[in-house]
Amino acid sequence: MNNFTYYNPTKIVFGKGTIARLTELVPQDQKILITYGGGSIFKNGVYEQVKAALAGFQTYEFGGIEANPTYETLMKAVELVKKEGIQFLLAVGGGSVVDGTKFISAAIFYEGADPWEILSKNGKIGKVLPLASVLTLPATGSESNPNAVISRTGTQEKLSFGDDRLYPVFSILDPETTYSLPINQVRNGIVDTYIHVMEQYLTYPVNTPLQDRQAEAILKTLIEEADAILATPAQYDARANFMWCATQALNMLINCGVVEDWATHMIGHEITAFYGLAHGETLAVVYPSVMHYKQEQKKAKLLQYAERVFGIKDLPEEEILKQAADRTEAFFRHVGIGTRLQEYKVNATEAAGKIGDRFARRGWKLGEHQDIDAEAVGQIILNAA
Ligand code: NZQ
Ligand code: ZN
Repeated sequence: MNNFTYYNPTKIVFGKGTIARLTELVPQDQKILITYGGGSIFKNGVYEQVKAALAGFQTYEFGGIEANPTYETLMKAVELVKKEGIQFLLAVGGGSVVDGTKFISAAIFYEGADPWEILSKNGKIGKVLPLASVLTLPATGSESNPNAVISRTGTQEKLSFGDDRLYPVFSILDPETTYSLPINQVRNGIVDTYIHVMEQYLTYPVNTPLQDRQAEAILKTLIEEADAILATPAQYDARANFMWCATQALNMLINCGVVEDWATHMIGHEITAFYGLAHGETLAVVYPSVMHYKQEQKKAKLLQYAERVFGIKDLPEEEILKQAADRTEAFFRHVGIGTRLQEYKVNATEAAGKIGDRFARRGWKLGEHQDIDAEAVGQIILNAA
């Protein structure tokens, strides 16, 4: 097992009716900025619940944070925070709102020329403003991790950053808030959660049986619960199990002491930046291709995954490896998400060229062996046509 530091200070308040607990959770006598997205919180009753819990508090609001939140929009919030002397940020929405709020928190006190540098050149984060969340979309784990992914429309970039001080102070997870999710967002969320686990699990073994079984537990739960999670009308227990899986998949627990991959996420961010696919869609396209491309390097874990998650065994090794990738892609298709670029009307040759060029310019090498270079990225994309 590799060395690690485990740290997760986010208080999780989970279950039905828990938005009311904001009253006791947010700091008293402070100016609070409620951040939100495109308006879903007005249609599903979440906004009313938040406002009711915060009656008597000094609140301000900033809406319009996009899916794949943009630097351009968030900088307007930074201005508002400075102007009003806001002291606490409350993100109400999906991962994009939570991520965007982390950027606002870090950008306010940024001392360099432009807060975009936090993303583009690892610009040093000074002080941050404390933040918390009311999560309405299980997927990213942002409600209980220190990371954020921000897009810049002007340059078609999508980059990530993280800082230990950006863990939300608390996050309220009420599964009932997910009932209003469009089905495609539920699909994206299941796939994002699944692939978060895979990025931290399907690499090479370093003797971490506990972490492996924690990862496999999340994968198996998602597979077993997928139909119930997708069912209409929404079922409370299935949505609760989904929500908790999504948090556990990326809250810095299952990656303790293991070797991580994340190549699929890095390639996926570029596909979103150039072609606008939702995050989960990019992952469903890229991951099966990575599984095939890296079959040899991932062999030991692939064999373990095939047997423990899908019960595939007693076959020639080659057949097990192939089936492991095929069954994974079949699961994504069963969830209802396209796994090929052509399904999203993206020309794979063009995408391979554009994205390969970008990785070449950045000199990035991805994956657990740092061997997925620009050429390999191009091939992975071509194979996902
Ligand atoms: O904007 P509103 O109107 O709220 O609508 C949103 C948005 O259109 C809607 N939605 C959210 N909750 C809803 C709802 N609609 C009805 N009822 C509800 N309860 O869903 C749409 C998508 O929301 P978004 O927040 O964009 O989705 P998600 O949570 O999947 O977040 C995706 C973003 O997170 C980043 C992604 O790259 C992407 O930018 N990620 C962040 C990570 C992190 N911080 O650790 C890790 C992930 O790998 C991921 O990269
Ligand atoms: Zn993700």
